[in-house]
Amino acid sequence: MCDLLNEVQAQVSSSTPLLMHLKVSKTKQQVAQNFSDYLVDLMEINASMHIALSGGSTPKIVFDELASRNIPEKNWRKVHLYWGDERCVLPDDDESNYKMTVEHLVSKIDIPEENIHRIKGENIPEYEAERYAEILEKKLPKMNGNPRFDLVILGMGDDGHTASIFPSEMVLWHSEKLCEVAEHPESGQKRITITGKIINHAATVAFLVTGESKAAKVAEIIDKKGNFKNYPASLVSPNTENLLWFLDEVAATKITTKIS
Ligand code: 6PG
Repeated sequence: MCDLLNEVQAQVSSSTPLLMHLKVSKTKQQVAQNFSDYLVDLMEINASMHIALSGGSTPKIVFDELASRNIPEKNWRKVHLYWGDERCVLPDDDESNYKMTVEHLVSKIDIPEENIHRIKGENIPEYEAERYAEILEKKLPKMNGNPRFDLVILGMGDDGHTASIFPSEMVLWHSEKLCEVAEHPESGQKRITITGKIINHAATVAFLVTGESKAAKVAEIIDKKGNFKNYPASLVSPNTENLLWFLDEVAATKITTKIS
């Protein structure tokens, strides 16, 4: 079992609050390897896993790494895949997070079709936000009556956005709904996004953040300095306090908080 999972398991069982766990790796490829080690072990020890995937570019290298691990079909059968956000485009559009995930992961692994719960970006956004919230309500296991992901994977934009909640739409984070319609501040592209309500109710949240362009916001958020409160990514604080950051060295370069 990878050392990170041991530490997290130890932390959880000792009920000492795990405020934030940082796993800093030299390269983007090593981030992909360390995260894959962590996920492969989680899939081994859990009877089932409901995972929300992130979009954008960083997951590509992680999905390629996962696909290269030849994880047995019996373990993929335990996994249900969802998306934390999707662009309101057709599923074969180059902008589609679903398409990216199929190309880099789903087309290369043995996971049952019925375990894949995609956001239908082609639907009318308002209708799709409601439809997907119903899917989450119906398919996810409940904790204290609320649907819970076992793992939510998030990225972070250079502006501090996460999922598709942008600094210009912080109100969406505090929504009472599980899913909302968002709008990209520059392109105006409509997005479907899960909200803070279900993100912070997850058993574990893992950020995958790489690249120099992210260093400033990562440091502000982790060091709780500057304008960190204006960045949606700073609001990620799972009730379980199981928050993991998988970073490469350049993304972590400005952090001043002592990393254990
Ligand atoms: C999306 C995402 C978004 C992404 C960040 C980081 O659909 O774009 O889910 O939140 O994670 O924008 O994107 P990169 O990994 O491409 O930097």
